[in-house]
This record gives sequence, structure tokens and C-alpha cells, in this order.
Amino acid sequence: MNAFQRCINPQCNATFDVSEVLHRCPKCGALLDVDYEWDKLPVPNSLAHFEKYWGDRANPHRFSGVWRFHELLPFAPLEQCVTVGEGQTVLQRNNGVAEYVGKSADSLFLQYEGLNPSGSFKDNGMAAGTTHGRLVGAKTAACASTGNTSASLAVYCGVTKLMKAVVFIGSGKIAYGKLSQALDYGARTVQIKGDFDDAMARVQEVSKKLGIYLLNSLNPFRLEGQKTIMFRVLEALRWDVPDWIVVPGGNLGNSSSFGKAFIELHKLGLIKKVPRLAVINAAGADSLYRLYNDEKLRWNGGNIDQSKIDAFYAQMDKENRRANTIASAIEINRPVNLTKCLRALDFCDGVVRKVTEQEILDAKAQVGAHGFGCEPASAASVAGTKQLVEEGIIGKDERVVCILTGYQLKDPNATVAYHGTDREFYEQVLGRRGVAETPYANSPVVVDNDIDRILDVLK
Ligand code: F0G
Repeated sequence: MNAFQRCINPQCNATFDVSEVLHRCPKCGALLDVDYEWDKLPVPNSLAHFEKYWGDRANPHRFSGVWRFHELLPFAPLEQCVTVGEGQTVLQRNNGVAEYVGKSADSLFLQYEGLNPSGSFKDNGMAAGTTHGRLVGAKTAACASTGNTSASLAVYCGVTKLMKAVVFIGSGKIAYGKLSQALDYGARTVQIKGDFDDAMARVQEVSKKLGIYLLNSLNPFRLEGQKTIMFRVLEALRWDVPDWIVVPGGNLGNSSSFGKAFIELHKLGLIKKVPRLAVINAAGADSLYRLYNDEKLRWNGGNIDQSKIDAFYAQMDKENRRANTIASAIEINRPVNLTKCLRALDFCDGVVRKVTEQEILDAKAQVGAHGFGCEPASAASVAGTKQLVEEGIIGKDERVVCILTGYQLKDPNATVAYHGTDREFYEQVLGRRGVAETPYANSPVVVDNDIDRILDVLK
């Protein structure tokens, strides 16, 4: 197939067959990439090549927003690739949100990855990850999740019946929309007493012991699927590369895959310009922010200073500091794709920012008021853009794409608490997190069941 796995550590550079199930390099412990012998593959000479597939929508692999770009992630024969109709997502030019973040008209775009079948961007990766699972004959697949990965895995297993799904979640740590999906789609759901990082550690042990196929973003095949989010952004902009991509950072799989997409497109001569990348942490889950901005941790040609990372996490444990944010999707202490994200930041001249709970919820309300809405973690991209415009780092006229990673109905509690009139509920969900104001609340009007009163209210 001319595809293989490669250790991302340039000093090691070990390679492995695609048929091996690995999550880290067995020689040095670094993360793995899926790589290709591009010179032996039929690489298109222009991105416009992919337009010819638009007219072939009756073919499920051309309908898929992932496999439509198969030539750019060719690790499995197309006919073996798993699809449930992922990637029918929308790039929306949004002048209301542009004004909110202080940008000029027509310069801000929202990429709605919440429109995927399970309601988040994870389906891009799951299409590719379950394809690899199928290639290696996996019978059961597992993941740890803050909610969306589990919903996605549950959908792919429920629809295709190729594997059974087992999902590990931290108790009380995932939004009900997401938990309801995993349960409804029939995944075996293991709720452990702990948070995402605990679940992540356990799922790796369990997968090893029971020979279960792991579908977290540690799995390099998943990130291949997530590259296509960038291909669709370019497609929607008619192959015109934007100035900035802004994305929330949790386990750092998305930002890593975006970086890989641009590294490869550039190497293949399919783009001339590379966009800048901004990764946005929640202030309550800011490991990347601290490591990048305070500790000055860098990719450094692959020579990452591991002692800085070790010292940082040791201190975190010593202080018993645990991630805590309303953006539960990104409530993560030890992002597993940290090193790959550093590579992406290096290639894309990136920046890292953190945003408060207040900034996240205000940005979320603005996305809702001007578009199709999103869950709290997704709004970090808009809140981060606002900060970067205020700092003068993103220019008012520069073209920015904010990735809205998850659908609005994933976490109705956050939305209802922000807009609603129930003070107790507000305190419970937002007040205790220091969200003091709701300047963009669209509160329901409570009125007696009396026609004159109702008419009064609507005057
Ligand atoms: N936004 C949403 C809605 C997410 O669900 C996640 C991650 C992220 C952003 C962060 O993306 O991890 O690639 O940096 N959710 C994972 C999960 C961790 O388990 O569903 P990342």
C-alpha cells in the first residue's frame, strides 16, 4: 500500500508496517505518524482534482467528507474504508461573530464540525480509525473520553457492527448530551471514579491486557481522518489558504492533525502558503499554555526537552492541580498528543492562548445568536480569536477560520444556565465557576397563561 507507521522522533525514525497495532514507538516511546511513499502514489497535482468527486455523491466513499480525499490518506484500499456519512460539514462566513471579535466584515469563518453524524469532529477520525481496526481484524474497540470520542465510537460500532464499543468516562465529567449518545448507541460504558486522565491511563492498560483495539487520538490512524477537516476548509474557500486556523486544545489531536495536513500539502506542492495556527486552552485546563508560553517548550527539530515536561507534571501532581472547566470536552491535564502539537505549532508559526469560563460562555452565546450554535469547548476558538485580535496578533482583515468542534445540543445545561431565569441552576452550573455576568443572555419571558398579559409582553 506504500503506507507505513513512522516514529515522530527524528533521532529514532523507526518505521513499522500499517498492519501493526501500536500507539507509541516500541523503540523510543515517542508518538507515531502514518506516513506514505508519496512518490509511488498517484498524488493529484492540484487540490481542484477533488472537485470531480462532487458529482459522484451516490458513491458513499465520494459522499464522505473524509474519503473524498482518499489520495491524501491512502493507508487502506478505498473499498475497505468505513463510512457512516461523515464530513458533511459547513464553513459559514459569519459577520455577526466577526464584529464580536473585532474583525472586519467577511474576514471570519466558522467551520461547523458539530454537523457530523455524532455531532462532533471526532467522526472524521473515527472513520479512519475504525478502517484501520477493520484492517487488523479488531473485534472490540475502546476509548477514554470527555464525551465526544465515546459518542463517535458508539455510532461507528453501532451502525457498522464491525466491532463492539467499550468507552471509559470519568464519573460526573461528561455532558449529558454525550453520555446519552454512548448509552443510546449501545456502547459498553464504564464510568470510573476519576477524570479523563485517569480514564485514559486505564483504557491503555485494559486494551493491552485484553487485546482491545484503542481508538483514542493516540492512534495515528485517527489523526489521518482529522486532516480532512482542513481539506474541507480549503475546499469551501475554493482552495484559497486562510491566514489563521483557530482551534480549541484538549488532548491536542486536532491541532496535531491540522499541522500534519499542512506539512503534507506543502511538501506535495498542493499549497504555497501555510496558515498560522492558534490553539486555545480553557484557563482551567491550561497545560499546553503553560508549557508553551511559560516554560517555552518547543518542537526544536524533534529534540523536545522532556525534562521540562516531566518537571511540569511533577509540580502539577505535587500541587494536586486538576483540570476544571465548564468546557468539559477539553478538561484534560496531560494532553497525549503534546509533542505532535508542538510540531504543528512550529510548522504553522503557531500561538497558544487560554480563555476564561466567562469568555467561553459569552463567545458561545454570540455563536448561538449569529449561527447554528456550539458546545462550550468549541467556543474557545472564538474567544481565543477575540483575544488575539485585541492583542493585535490577528489582523482585523486577516482571514480566520474558527473550528467549532461540537454541536450546540451536546451540553444544554451550559446554554440553559446562561440564558435561563433559574438562579439556583445558574449558581450550580455557572456561578460557582466564576461566571459573574451573562451579557448576551436571551432569557425566556415568564408570563401568566392570560392572553392580555401575553400580548403585553409581545408589544
Ligand atoms: N472540542 C470538543 C467538542 C472536543 O470533544 C474535544 C476533545 C476538543 C475540542 C479537543 O480536541 O483533544 O483534539 O485537542 N474531546 C475528546 C473526547 C478529548 O474524549 O471527546 P483535541
